[in-house]
Amino acid sequence: LEVSWDISSAQKGGYPHFMLKEIYEQPDALDRTIRPRVSDGLPFLEEDGISDSLFDGIKNITVVACGTAMHAGMVGKYVFESKLRIPVNVEIASEFRYKDPIIDKNTLTIVLSQSGETIDTLEALRLAKKKGSPVLSIVNVKGSTIARESDYVLYTHAGPEIAVASTKAYTVQISAMYLIACRYGLVKGIISEDEAREFIKNLENVRSIIEDTLKNANTIKMVANRIMISPDVFYIGRGIDYTLCLEASLKLKEISYIHSEAYAAGELKHGTIALISENVPVIAIATEKDVYSKVISNVKEVKSRGAFVILVSHDDDINDTSVCDMQIKLPEADSVFSVFATAVVLQLIAYYTSDAKGLDVDKPRNLAKSVTVE
Ligand code: G6P
Repeated sequence: LEVSWDISSAQKGGYPHFMLKEIYEQPDALDRTIRPRVSDGLPFLEEDGISDSLFDGIKNITVVACGTAMHAGMVGKYVFESKLRIPVNVEIASEFRYKDPIIDKNTLTIVLSQSGETIDTLEALRLAKKKGSPVLSIVNVKGSTIARESDYVLYTHAGPEIAVASTKAYTVQISAMYLIACRYGLVKGIISEDEAREFIKNLENVRSIIEDTLKNANTIKMVANRIMISPDVFYIGRGIDYTLCLEASLKLKEISYIHSEAYAAGELKHGTIALISENVPVIAIATEKDVYSKVISNVKEVKSRGAFVILVSHDDDINDTSVCDMQIKLPEADSVFSVFATAVVLQLIAYYTSDAKGLDVDKPRNLAKSVTVE
């Protein structure tokens, strides 16, 4: 009898890498995180020990986190600010902990951490508490230090994340931010019950949006095969799409070792456009209706300088090479909910690029899953 697999392959459940498995686990991870907090179509956090009184007297929010978790916080900021008009500061934990942050009991501090053990995030949490700010953490690992030291915890249910590059933990963190935002808006009377129901319905529907997106894997592989030969890749977008660009760029750097930069599309003309020359890949994300035409005009600017443009948007086929060379079509959704599909596309681009280069996708050089020392 010959056993042709080891324990690690068995744990990968038939996927070649943990990262790919974890990308495909996102619909279920989101379901597990969202569903228990929804009753009669509305968000409830009481069972997590988060009573509505937490929001009493809160005038603003500070989010502290590192890496991918910090990028999830940026998406959350967008929703709190655009839908609820609540000011949100997103702070890099390692910066926050060494300054004298302007927070007090009227600031809700939201801490985001997959592991619940990141030292800078933990120290930022301790500082926030010292300043009298109530701390609500969004954590994936039960009983972790950050969970234990927080006033309130909203656990994400991504399940264990083994690949160093975070994928499913990121999307569930975003969904947790959305649940908190929706509850906050409802409790404060900023949104009506009907609006909250509509929001939650869209959030629950994200599962099928991701499943549809995963069907595009072959097109995404073609994109990866094109960018794997490039020394530099640029991501551009505006608004919520810009926050996705930051995460996409980090993901690509982490596992493919390709230099990449994320730019707010309107900022290109202030310097970075000097780096755009013949065949430089530019991945443009354009899901926001309000700024769509602005992003497309930025795309044309880079295209006219020879860039190889990959457009990620809701558009039907654009057969116009003055706009893009390749296109990844997202399922139709409001940009606030499109982020989940966009995230999956960008994770897969990084994954397939790293794999095509023959790199160790799950264990990139110099990186650790959890950074518990400074
Ligand atoms: C490390 C990981 C990243 C992660 C960051 C924050 O750098 O490689 O994937 O985003 O730490 O980790 P946390 O566990 O606090 O979310």
